[in-house]
Amino acid sequence: MSVHKEVKRITTRTLQEMKSHGEKIAMLTAYDYSMATIVDAAGMDIILVGDSASNVMAGHETTLPITLDQMIYHASAVVRAAKRALIVVDLPFGTYQGNSKEALSSAIRIMKESGAHAVKIEGGIEIAESVSRILTAGIPVMGHLGLTPQSIYKFGTYTVRAKEEAEAQKLREDALKLQELGCFGVVLEKIPAQLAKEVSESLFIPTIGIGAGRHCDGQVLVIHDMLGINKGFKPRFLRQYANLSEVMNGAIKNYVSDIKAKEFPSETEQY
Ligand code: KIV
Repeated sequence: MSVHKEVKRITTRTLQEMKSHGEKIAMLTAYDYSMATIVDAAGMDIILVGDSASNVMAGHETTLPITLDQMIYHASAVVRAAKRALIVVDLPFGTYQGNSKEALSSAIRIMKESGAHAVKIEGGIEIAESVSRILTAGIPVMGHLGLTPQSIYKFGTYTVRAKEEAEAQKLREDALKLQELGCFGVVLEKIPAQLAKEVSESLFIPTIGIGAGRHCDGQVLVIHDMLGINKGFKPRFLRQYANLSEVMNGAIKNYVSDIKAKEFPSETEQY
């Protein structure tokens, strides 16, 4: 029997039990009420209000421009929708790296103003003080290692991270550090599957992979990518479960042509 079916609301503890029982964790992004309602009802364990909202909702090239106020706006809508999933919200770029007091006040704003259950932050040892301070306030923290999109201008590219031993070793140490600090889980983005396997086996907290292979304790994708709304984005790790851009395009074209042909509304669609 699966752990997750027995619970009313997924908590960080449920996730820990899922890892102990070998039950994989399902995580997906959502940024608004309607999508989050569908995602939650489909049995998602974690809904991530990712700063990928900057890309898929606002059309920015990177995740850097999104603000704390905008993240809170998205998170509040998702919180109103989700009855069962644990809701994790990204701390956006510039709201936690500078100093740990600012990190704590950003995390408190997210928790207080949106009603979310946890925050996610990118980085390892270099943000240890911020992670610690947020945790001290009783706010659950999820880490994020490997390809960390907020550092895109440092990396210069979105290719696979930690292929070289020095970077792989730093990632192993960062993962252990995040666990030691008290993080309840860690996202591993775009790293070799073998490294993700090793890290997942070395941690007692769950790892959630995106482009990190099948041995992570769970998987996460961006909803617009997996539903095929985001047409141009087709990295190897992405499984596209639907082609909604085509479905939506067809429906909207039909609507336009029905109006032009004076076929909408019909007599039964009026008062
Ligand atoms: O912002 C986001 O959607 C993320 C996922 C890609 C893990 O951080």
